[in-house]
Amino acid sequence: MAKHYKIAVIPGDGTGPEVIREGLKVLQAVSRKFGFALELTNYDVGGDRYLKTGEVLPDSVLAELRQFDAIYLGAVGHPEVKPGILEKGLLLKLRFELDQYINLRPVKLYPGVDSPLKNKGPSEIDYVVIRENSGGLYTGVGGFSMKGTPQEVAMQEMVYSRFQVDRCLRYAFEYARKRNKRKTLALSGKTNVLTYVFDLWERAFHEMGARDYADIKREYYHVDATCMWMIKNPEWFDVIVTENMFGDIITDLGAITQGGMGIAAGGNINPEGVSMFEPIGGSAPKYTGQNVINPLAAICAGAMLLDELGETQAAQAIERAVMDVTAHKIKNLGAGKMGYSTSKVGDLVAEGV
Ligand code: IPM
Ligand code: MN
Repeated sequence: MAKHYKIAVIPGDGTGPEVIREGLKVLQAVSRKFGFALELTNYDVGGDRYLKTGEVLPDSVLAELRQFDAIYLGAVGHPEVKPGILEKGLLLKLRFELDQYINLRPVKLYPGVDSPLKNKGPSEIDYVVIRENSGGLYTGVGGFSMKGTPQEVAMQEMVYSRFQVDRCLRYAFEYARKRNKRKTLALSGKTNVLTYVFDLWERAFHEMGARDYADIKREYYHVDATCMWMIKNPEWFDVIVTENMFGDIITDLGAITQGGMGIAAGGNINPEGVSMFEPIGGSAPKYTGQNVINPLAAICAGAMLLDELGETQAAQAIERAVMDVTAHKIKNLGAGKMGYSTSKVGDLVAEGV
């Protein structure tokens, strides 16, 4: 019997369902070609369900999600829901509960896509950011004191255990080795100011590198300088590893250099458990139902999902088809209008896999 994967699909809010539809179109096309089957189960969690029932992520749904081979997520964020409720109650809760401790974000400029970086092309913009995804400021450790008074104090702590740092670094070193491009891993931090947390990261980085990864070159950049070099000399980077909030920020910067949120994909990975793949742009609610949003980020997230399942050739086939579309079929993607509808772009990629 053909290989068979159980995938949970969470189309989510806004334009999420439209881009996920195209991603599934491509996944189905590639699965037929490469001889495996995807068994899809749809979950309607998101803003609309919350507004109707008050539930964000019921425990029963979470328990079911643990049973899948992977999760495919569209977008969360609804204009009528107060910011934070869906982000924390759904997206971050899934990342934490499923212990998806890696957020993998390739920054790759595809041929034909317009980058805002002058004189930089696909051979200069091609690196991967590994964002720690389980700790730091996102753990929510903190609180208010004297809330509502003029003396009010608010605190939110950047918390890291050696365990969290080590497992993220281990993944990053292994990734740099497997990627086998320049075999360089850059730690992005702030050792000059955050002298506790990044002291820990830096020691752990060099200890592990010296002990187990003599073949991987180690570099260090402060996070502010990382932003500068991502613009000025993106070709310096191969694999970047960083903590959660810094990774959140620099990957939006990276995304815009690769043509924007319509292209950037990411994976929330638990290498030993259930991983979740998503386009990293938001739900773009004002375009809902218009069939105008670029589905390539969702399609590329689908390729990452297959790669994580071990369907490497199928994942590569999707990426090749995407590059063929950006190089030959869509003019100046990233510079504004696509010139094609969401569903047409999905058709073009699906035909090419
Ligand atoms: C991302 C997003 C999320 C984050 C939000 C929606 C909670 O910006 O995936 O980068 O901050 O991680
Ligand atoms: Mn973000």
